[in-house]
Amino acid sequence: MDKIVVNGGRSLKGTVRISGAKNAALPILISSLLVEGVNTYTNVPDLMDIHSTTLLLSKLGARVETGGSRVCIDAAGLIEHEAAYDLVRKMRASVLVLGPLVARLGKARVSLPGGCAIGARPINLHLKGLAALGAEIELKHGYVEASAGRLKGADIYFDIVTVTGTENLMMAAVLADGTTTLRNAAREPEVVALADTLVKMGADIEGAGTSIITINGVDSLKPAETSIIPDRIETGTFMMSAVLTRGDITLVDCEPDHLGATINIMRQTGADIETTDNSIRVTMQGEINSVDVKTQPYPGFPTDMQAQFMVLMSIADGSAMISETIFENRYIHVSELIRMGANIKVDGNIAIVKGVPKLSGAPVMATDLRASASLILAGLVADGSTRINRVYHLDRGYESIEKKFAGLGADIKRIK
Ligand code: EPU
Repeated sequence: MDKIVVNGGRSLKGTVRISGAKNAALPILISSLLVEGVNTYTNVPDLMDIHSTTLLLSKLGARVETGGSRVCIDAAGLIEHEAAYDLVRKMRASVLVLGPLVARLGKARVSLPGGCAIGARPINLHLKGLAALGAEIELKHGYVEASAGRLKGADIYFDIVTVTGTENLMMAAVLADGTTTLRNAAREPEVVALADTLVKMGADIEGAGTSIITINGVDSLKPAETSIIPDRIETGTFMMSAVLTRGDITLVDCEPDHLGATINIMRQTGADIETTDNSIRVTMQGEINSVDVKTQPYPGFPTDMQAQFMVLMSIADGSAMISETIFENRYIHVSELIRMGANIKVDGNIAIVKGVPKLSGAPVMATDLRASASLILAGLVADGSTRINRVYHLDRGYESIEKKFAGLGADIKRIK
């Protein structure tokens, strides 16, 4: 299994290009199930989760062609309606096929994802919403079996803000008979990107990006061409590396508008941040200020940046309180950071991080994507060598992470 070895201590400088967003690409690629004909997607990141998605779509009968960051998908020959355990186990976002399959074929059989490293992550709200749209749902042998005639528009209130739940039901509702209103919907840029794609395909959707989304069902959709939006979490991760290493990094092909909360918090740490329409320059000198942070649904501070921010606070001047409000077990990086010399105490969903002068390199591993990214960041500022094991978590969601950091001057390499 691959490992990444980082020798810390270098100040990162230079320019890095941000890739397309994993969490936008996944639902958008899956939305191709709703239509016959060739959909073309550009700026698709080269990631394990994207490979898992195209494999799943091929297994369902779609024709998939990939070339660099361009992916073409034609689901005219959709023949299967099942997402098997093996695929869903590898990538929870596979449950996103549920809505489009029921909408297009009137049936879907999808393995229940079960818990994962960061929390229980049920999909009850996806299922409740589909039932409200008229689907019959049964849970059998670890699978969700959903069936329906044409779905019927409904008024759906989410008890909790859910990103993929909103996306799944939006995809189900676009071909339904009548109007669906999604209330307390997720406002993440990835939800808006999916809605924009569906509108290009001929869907009638209003309010994406607000907490009330209205979808007037249409009889059929047409294929479309879509460029995947930049990855705001990759952007934030590189921004934090500039602050951590007292560097000077310019991020290009990114979308500063999607990073309001992250930019705001990072300015409070003392970073100097300049933005244009599609670039961000982060420079940092001197002590890092401690800042308290609470994760929240968009536009709040993202849970997907919490682990990386904790690294920043672990070498900051003073103490910071971090509250994780989205997932119940998203502190798996804490014990590894403590092994690297960080001073962190966790009580329930609160972590108190007391800055230390220096971290020290160690062999570490994490069972989650963002936790693994945080360990690379820690390695960049630690004394000596840090070896990050289980790199496949990183490969799920960061395109060429070690090459991008090496391009900024980091001493980092992958060992096969
Ligand atoms: N929840 C329920 N019931 C549901 C759905 C969600 O109780 O039916 C709960 C979850 O357990 C969680 C909260 O609602 O406590 C929010 O979860 P959400 O459904 O929004 O998460 P998700 O859609 O499964 C997406 C991203 C995650 C990101 C979260 C939160 C994708 C493919 N995944 O997950 O990304 O952390 O939203 O922003 O879009 C990552 O990229 O590393 C990652 C984990």
